[in-house]
Amino acid sequence: MNPPPSFDPSPRLLLSPDARPRLVQIHRDNPIELRRDLIAGLIASHAAASPKFLYDRLGSRLFEAITELPEYYPTRTEAEIFDAHAGTMAQAIGAVDTLIDLGAGNCAKALRLIPSLRPSRYVAVDISVDFLDDAIADVQRKHPMLDVAGVGLDFSSELQLPPDLVQGRPVFFYPGSSIGNFTPAAARDFLAVVQRQAATGGLLVGVDLVKPIELLEPAYDDALGVTAAFNLNLLRHLNRLIGSDFNLRDWRHVAFFNQADSRIEMHLETRRTLVVRWPEGERRFEAGERLHTENSYKYSVEGFTDLLRASGFAHTRCWVDAKGWFAVFWAQA
Ligand code: AVI
Repeated sequence: MNPPPSFDPSPRLLLSPDARPRLVQIHRDNPIELRRDLIAGLIASHAAASPKFLYDRLGSRLFEAITELPEYYPTRTEAEIFDAHAGTMAQAIGAVDTLIDLGAGNCAKALRLIPSLRPSRYVAVDISVDFLDDAIADVQRKHPMLDVAGVGLDFSSELQLPPDLVQGRPVFFYPGSSIGNFTPAAARDFLAVVQRQAATGGLLVGVDLVKPIELLEPAYDDALGVTAAFNLNLLRHLNRLIGSDFNLRDWRHVAFFNQADSRIEMHLETRRTLVVRWPEGERRFEAGERLHTENSYKYSVEGFTDLLRASGFAHTRCWVDAKGWFAVFWAQA
């Protein structure tokens, strides 16, 4: 069981006298459950670790660096779409009372949209408020009249926002094709939860599209090795979390496009036979054996439209860049 929510929903929290954005931590991982799940993944016959362990402090910085790489097209292609269609998007979306940014990170994507959507309130949600502190202070500085709040929440396991933070017509914003890191079945369930919570509003979501393998694979295996470092850093994170003794030099980054499942897969592969130990346990890995760390699903416009429909969104609209690499969907709840 997760510990009960630790936020304080009293008005005192909502009206901070110095006008600094409010920060609310909804829940933190239960360390016992986290350890149990991690070890279960490590000792499974196909070893796996949740992609959320890619994002400790260094992992989040490495991901930001990935978005600057020439090979990693999604971030800049999505930004091109927002820049080219901001006006028509704002028209299609209509009035926005609360803009809820899921996985806000450095809030850079929302900053592009706020001037055209003109929400009254901006709620940045990320797994930990520690990552949001500086970013939302920056949003507040750039938009002094905007009501800004940050929520620390692992929304992939449960999207439960303090009700008093969501005022009027809500618009959820889920950019960057993070929806691609769910399996399609889990994505449908998650989108259905968003659909119910969006009430009279809707969802603006960025989706990476299927494209030639020559473009897809380098985006996840760049020449500079930043994605390799991002993937390998998961082992350092696991060492801290469960006291394991993964030696990064024994592992290499592997990324490829699995055509049958329409997904990029990221793995860490051993360079030799080895044993990884942690207090009260160990796992032998044969040479060349893999630890699966992430999937990144790629959709067609039709495929993602069907997924939105199956999640309960009746009216959808989408904008695609000139090369047909990336799509932004508006889905009315
Ligand atoms: C966060 N997410 C959408 C990224 C992706 O493209 O799937 C994570 C990533 N993994 C490797 N490079 C980027």
